[in-house]
This record gives sequence, C-alpha cells and structure tokens, in this order.
Amino acid sequence: MLILGVESSCDETAIALVKDGRDVISSMIASQTTVHAKWGGVIPEIAAREHLNAIFQTFEQAMTESGLTLSQIDAIGVSQGPGLVGCLLVGAAFAKGLAQSLEKPLYPVNHVHAHVSGALLGISESSERIFPTLSLVVSGGHTNLYYMKSPSHFELLAHTMDDACGESFDKVGKMLGLPYPGGPHVEMLARQGCAGKVQLPKMVEKKSLLTFSYSGLKTAVSHAVNRPEQSQASKADIAYAFQEEALGQILRKLETALSIRPETRSIIVAGGVAANSRFREVMQTKFRLPVWFPPLKYCSDNGAMVAAMAYYEHCDGKNGSGIDWDVFSRYPFEHYLAKDLCGE
Ligand code: KG4
Ligand code: ZN
Repeated sequence: MLILGVESSCDETAIALVKDGRDVISSMIASQTTVHAKWGGVIPEIAAREHLNAIFQTFEQAMTESGLTLSQIDAIGVSQGPGLVGCLLVGAAFAKGLAQSLEKPLYPVNHVHAHVSGALLGISESSERIFPTLSLVVSGGHTNLYYMKSPSHFELLAHTMDDACGESFDKVGKMLGLPYPGGPHVEMLARQGCAGKVQLPKMVEKKSLLTFSYSGLKTAVSHAVNRPEQSQASKADIAYAFQEEALGQILRKLETALSIRPETRSIIVAGGVAANSRFREVMQTKFRLPVWFPPLKYCSDNGAMVAAMAYYEHCDGKNGSGIDWDVFSRYPFEHYLAKDLCGE
C-alpha cells in the first residue's frame, strides 16, 4: 500500500511516499530553521506562512523523486496534532484537497505517535520480534514514554511534568550562548567536557515515580553559568553535566518501566533528541534488549513517519474518513499536549 504523508505541525514542511509503512520511496523536507533562528525560537504566524509558501513545491519534489504518478497513491496521511494550529491547518487543508481530488482515503494521525513509526522505517525485523515495546518520543515538545502492543496501540506510561527534553537542550544552548536550535550544539560542546567537574541535581529521583522533569535541571544550569568569574566552570563541562542528567533520568525511568512490564521485547527511541549520539551510545550499552532508533534523517519532523503511521491506522481497521476539523477549535492556547486532542 502506497501512502503519501504530509507533515506541517511546527517548522518543517515535509512530504513523503512510503510503501507498506516501512519502505521510503521519496521524502522531501523544507526546514524553516534558518528563518526562525534570528528569533531564537519558532514564531507560529511566520511558520504557518512559510508552510503555505513551501507545501506545493515540496509535494512536487517528492512526486518527482519517487518517479510515480498520482494514480499510484492509495491513501493520504496527515499530522492532525499536536502542533501549531495555523501550521497544522495548512497541511490538513492540502491533504484534504489532494485526497478529495484523487478520491482516496485520508488518515489524520497523531504527530507524536508518528515519531515512533519513524523508528521502524527501513527495518526488516518482524513485528513479533519488536512488540510489545517501550517507546520514547523525546522531542522539542514532548518527552513521552509509551507501552505498545502493536504499531498503533499506545499506552502512555510517563510524560514530562514541565519542560520537554529537547526544549531544555534548546534553553541550555541559549544560556551557553550557542545558536538555535541548541540541541545539536550542546551535544557537540559536551564532547569537550569532563565528568565530575560540574555537579547538577538528579531529577525525579524517586524510582517508582514514572514522570520526567527538566525545569529544575535548567535552573541548576543557569546557576552554574552565572557563578562569579573566579569559580566559573567551563561551558563544555556544564554542557557535559547537563546532557548526562537530561539523558540519565530517561534511562532511570526506562528501568522502572521495564521492571513493571517485563514482557517487553524491545525499546524504541524517536523524536529530535534521538539524533543525539551520546543518547544512542548509552541506550545501546545499558539495555540488553534490542533498541531501535530512526535513521538520523527521520529523527526530526518528516513526512515518512506520518505516512507510516497512517499505514498502521489502516492496518488497525480505520477507514480514513478524513480530518476532524473541530479538533482545531478545541486547541488549548497555553500548551498543545496530546492528551487534550487524542484522549491520552
Ligand atoms: O522532533 P523534533 O524535530 O520536533 C518536535 O516535534 O519537537 O525535535 C526537535 C528537538 C529540538 O529541541 C532540538 O534541539 C532537539 O530536538 N535535537 C537534539 C539533537 N538534535 C535535535 N537534542 C539533543 N541532541 C541532538 N543531537
Ligand atoms: Zn515532532
């Protein structure tokens, strides 16, 4: 089954064609990172307009790269949320128009769940060897831990009670004077840092508590950065200590989750922070189970993960009846947590 996936939830306009949820035929991503860099974060109104400017060209490029014709597409998938409302509407309207003109089903998917499907792109492992799995989505907006019996079954076990992990990388990057988005730059700087030079508190230490927290860690970094000159730690040592705890709390909570779900066969890590090479290294050495990460180009937002998620929705018996437009008017202004939109 060939599905075209449309992604526009934040600052990437992305379109991809994916066969049977795993084989990426083509994938195009128009990133707005340079547009937003001068503001130090994503400006929703600018992002929505950029999507509008980019979406048709991205679609044409994805079709050209695939060498396929429109009549070969079996269904359309689109990120319906969570995300920035104006941005989501651009992708949703485009996907709906395309689905109607081609007379094909349209699958709206949960963007956070789609990140997990992205980790399965290109692999040949059978589902029986992967599920049940514990999956993590560690991105700029979310730090979620799920228990999954199949690619479309999500049981939320833990989420952050304040900042998301990627968001804290970005904020710490800013404190350390690094460019936006801070995540990759903090990782690079941390490589030059040493263990034991900077002490930062451990977050959510109580083992049984299945939740994440990044706000206190960020404050501790801010104190370390602002110490008087003579006792100031090097920025690289601060970046090192921050990264170890940002990732360390995820490892501790995974251990807890594994102890309550011993039947787990594998671990999936997805979302922008899954691109972090220290994260990949510690995950592979710490756990005896197979750990699946997306290929680097599918860690951040992309259309392929959306198409893959739509495929799993189809396999689950959903009929692809289109967008629930009411969702957009129900969007909470202050935050856009998946639970408000998708019943988690
Ligand atoms: O999944 P994503 O592209 O967007 C959301 O859906 O939020 O994630 C973006 C986040 C940003 O916060 C970015 O700084 C972080 O992923 N990120 C990283 C790395 N690469 C991207 N964080 C740590 N280390 C990295 N190498
Ligand atoms: Zn995302």
